[in-house]
Amino acid sequence: MRKKLKIGVLVSGNGSNLQSIIDACKSGRINGEVTFVGSDRPGVFALERAEKHGIPNFVVDYGEELKKLKRAGSIIGANIAPKDYNFNDILKKLGGTLAVKLNKSKLASTALIESLLLEEMAKYQYDLLVLAGFMRLFTPYLIDKINVNPYMPKIMNIHPALLPAFPGTDGYGDTYAFGCKVGGCTVQFIDYGEDTGPIIGQKTFSIPEEYNTVKKIKERGLPVEWELYPECIQLFAEGRLQVVDRTYKGKIKKVVEVLPSDCKIDNYQLFGR
Ligand code: GRF
Repeated sequence: MRKKLKIGVLVSGNGSNLQSIIDACKSGRINGEVTFVGSDRPGVFALERAEKHGIPNFVVDYGEELKKLKRAGSIIGANIAPKDYNFNDILKKLGGTLAVKLNKSKLASTALIESLLLEEMAKYQYDLLVLAGFMRLFTPYLIDKINVNPYMPKIMNIHPALLPAFPGTDGYGDTYAFGCKVGGCTVQFIDYGEDTGPIIGQKTFSIPEEYNTVKKIKERGLPVEWELYPECIQLFAEGRLQVVDRTYKGKIKKVVEVLPSDCKIDNYQLFGR
């Protein structure tokens, strides 16, 4: 049997997806263990869940760190960024748009907070970083430190819609607003964009007429997420997720192919320390 997958989880809120992952590890649906839970906000219920299960946990309070930087009057550009931060490199990776250029100081301060997060996470072992309702976008500064090989990404996210429809922070709200007859969720590896990374798995649910509120759609959707996320993590644990380039009409995109169960690649353990 393969070594247990070490899973680091980041959260921002309730943590029902975290719970589904903890439960799946306990029941053996995932051959793995959660080695830490980190939050960008203090006092969230997800941290209580971690405590209850004896999982080490920590907070890197993005809001407070940003306030500290502002109080120090130091949001003046790249000089507040981590030592190994290279703005031009980040700009290139983000497509070099004007919007990105204008946000130079925001990017630098975010990278600084990401360096604190990396420092905390480095205290634990993890083969895979799982975002479970973590409501922050990473910059390439953090992403590249974890995804050292672009064909072996190691950061997974779950999104409450069928991507590429409805990216952003309100997947269930958008599903409701558009009167969709089917809703769904997507697990993907993250890339530099917002909800644009290679798709690992998707599940759908029907939306009958009487499910005419966002709350009801969410109530129907969340249990589907709790099924999908552990399934995708277990595919990773089995070494069955392969990232390949797909070309269509001249455009190249990275996509995930799910390998048959007898065909496994060594796509993790790189972090094993
Ligand atoms: C989920 O709907 C997830 O898809 C989205 O944020 C929500 C988190 O819920 N990214 P929970 O904290 O796991 O209960």
